[in-house]
Amino acid sequence: MSSIDYNEKIPNNVNLADDRALKRALEHWQPNYLEWWQDMGPEGSQDMDVYLRTAVSVDKEGWAQFGYVKMPEYRWGIFLNPAKKGRKIHFGDHKGEDAWQSVPGEYRANLRRIIVTQGDTEPASVEQQRHLGLTAPSLYDLRNLFQVNVEEGRHLWAMVYLLHKYFGRDGREEGEALLERRSGEEDNPRILQAFNEKTPDWLSFFMFTYFTDRDGKYQLHALSESSFDPLARTTRFMLTEEAHHMFVGETGVSRIIERTCNVMNELKSDDSETLRRAGVIDLPTIQRYLNFHFSVTVDLFGADESSNAAIYYSTGLKGRYAEGKRKDDHRLKNDHYPVLEVRDGKLVERQVPMLNALNEVLRDDYIREAASGVKRWNRVISRAGLPFELKVPHKAFHRKIGALAGSFISPEGDVLTEEQWQQRADQWLPTDEDRAFVASLMGRVDEPGQFANWIAPPAIGINNQPIDFDYVRFN
Ligand SMILES: [Fe+2]
Ligand SMILES: [Fe+2]
Repeated sequence: MSSIDYNEKIPNNVNLADDRALKRALEHWQPNYLEWWQDMGPEGSQDMDVYLRTAVSVDKEGWAQFGYVKMPEYRWGIFLNPAKKGRKIHFGDHKGEDAWQSVPGEYRANLRRIIVTQGDTEPASVEQQRHLGLTAPSLYDLRNLFQVNVEEGRHLWAMVYLLHKYFGRDGREEGEALLERRSGEEDNPRILQAFNEKTPDWLSFFMFTYFTDRDGKYQLHALSESSFDPLARTTRFMLTEEAHHMFVGETGVSRIIERTCNVMNELKSDDSETLRRAGVIDLPTIQRYLNFHFSVTVDLFGADESSNAAIYYSTGLKGRYAEGKRKDDHRLKNDHYPVLEVRDGKLVERQVPMLNALNEVLRDDYIREAASGVKRWNRVISRAGLPFELKVPHKAFHRKIGALAGSFISPEGDVLTEEQWQQRADQWLPTDEDRAFVASLMGRVDEPGQFANWIAPPAIGINNQPIDFDYVRFN
């Protein structure tokens, strides 16, 4: 089951050939997907040969192969991790029962909603990033952008497969709707707000893949614990692909910082204007982008207290991050967890039933990991001998969702009045001027081995290829 049938029109490891109705339905969806890719996929990229990895197996070793592909011919398909025989539900009210191989009627609506919400983020990020190829700082980066984009496309396939196979006509309609919503479009936007924001430049792209793709990782982990076994297996395999997206983000930001630090040392200056004139992105601007992407992403975990989160967990639809490794009763009925609220002009903790706080639990797990990469970025700065430290803002900073929405909270966690916030917001979030400056640096570099002035080359190439390899060939 782990090998993938590439003779099929739709590559898969789910014996699609044996299920003719499903195969027909997906083959009917396929041209609509390709049309969406033509319209909303990376702009002007249709004829390029791109050095991409394609999934060829779900085995841990050697699951992908590399080669030149024109993206519209990428072999998007359906790959699930192999089933574990006798898998049991390991949390919630059904703990100890057999995992479900079909959708229990009473959970159908909630499962559909979970799958559609996850599925919607996949094409959304492709739409958000569709102009970036025009301003890639190198062929190496252009290739990485396209790799992320084709895999987000495949993640959409993963969710549409579940909708078609397990949700009948409703599922097919959801599959069409996933191709109809558009990131940032007023009439028919994507479901979650962070996926309607623009990704206008490469600093935003790297911050997005570092912070927001990592939200994806945590959501996928929580779903990979699901009692609905096909969802668990498909999200497990998606995680294999996701790791590269976060790598692109972490190393991308790191290389920008490295280049800025080099120029700071050459010019012996930390003056933002001087550095901008030298064509690199000053560290305070990087901090403001970090603040923006961090705060928009922590909102994605949802309201601090949520009865939906409790229901999803208790009914076994969505677990916690690393559910299987936790040493508690996996039912959580008598446990509590702290959430934040503003009381008398201060942020204070309040204990609430753990089940209702599971969004907050996942958010806190996420923040721990997101913060560790920022430490690695700081090491780049300290190795350059410079006294500057990037900081992860307080999780209450700039929130639009949950109990903290509507409060004004500084990156240090101080509660402010609206007026105080307005006076200082320009120091904390990217200004129009910051964005215009970063945009002014963008321009495509398309010679192998050449890099834009504002970013350092990577330490190593992709798949052991040299850094000056022609990762993309223009035709
Ligand atoms: Fe994805
Ligand atoms: Fe991703």
